[in-house]
Formats: sequence, structure tokens, C-alpha cells
Amino acid sequence: MLDLEDLYQEVVMDHSRRPRNFRKLKSANRTAEGFNPLCGDQITLYLTVEDGLITDIGFEGTGCAISKASASMLTESVKGVSEEEAERTFKAFRGMVTRAPGEDYDADTLGDLEILGGVAAYPVRIKCATLSWHTLHAALAKEEAPARTE
Ligand code: FES
Repeated sequence: MLDLEDLYQEVVMDHSRRPRNFRKLKSANRTAEGFNPLCGDQITLYLTVEDGLITDIGFEGTGCAISKASASMLTESVKGVSEEEAERTFKAFRGMVTRAPGEDYDADTLGDLEILGGVAAYPVRIKCATLSWHTLHAALAKEEAPARTE
């Protein structure tokens, strides 16, 4: 039987090897850049937003397995949801991976993303997991400057 740690490893490997929505989106009307100065990894997020709804999403960039897996899962979780819901998911995700041991988080909002909660045990990898999420936040806020993990 798989324990949570095995499941975490399996999901990260699957999404990093076959990232979902890994493409430039021609229809995008919202784009944001994200950058992790610690490693130089970067991501570009493309969103198509219509009437407050994220109707399509894609990403490109270079990054480690965790950053790629996290971005891939992000695209699956916010495709088809409202901007408000996507922002709520960003806050729930950030809360989960940066929480102190034993502290509660918003599991209901996170759904399948909860599997990435394992990253909280590896402080050096937290920025890898949050890179795409900070980028999403910047896209939703229509920020011009690249989102940075530092
Ligand atoms: Fe660069 Fe993970 S090592 S984002």
C-alpha cells in the first residue's frame, strides 16, 4: 500500500515528466512571469480570462521536478474556475506549504493539491512549489513586474 510520502513522490514524478497544459496559449489575455532567484528557474503563465472565469491556462519555463509538477497541478486546479476562486486556492496553497508543523490548513479548497503538502517538510523546496502560484497571483492582480519567490 502506498503511504503519503510514496504518493507525493509518485505524483511529483508523473506531473514533472508529463506536465499538463505545458504550452504557450495563443488565446491568452493575461500573462505573468515568475522567477526564483535562488536557482534561476523561471515560468511564464498564460491565462484566458472571460467574464471573470479562467477558461484556459498554459505554462512554459524551466524548473525542477517540484516546480514543474506544482505548475502542472495548478493549471488543472484553476482551469474553469473564477478569478476569486483561483485567488482563494493560491492563499490555501501558500498557507499549506508554509505552515508550522501541526498547523491547520484549508484542505477543502485544495482538493488534489493537498498531496503537495508533503513539501512543507522540506523548507528548501517550498519556493519551488510556490513559484507558479506566486505567478498566478501576479497574473490575477495584473502585476507588470515578474513574480519572485524572494
Ligand atoms: Fe528552481 Fe526548484 S530548484 S524552482
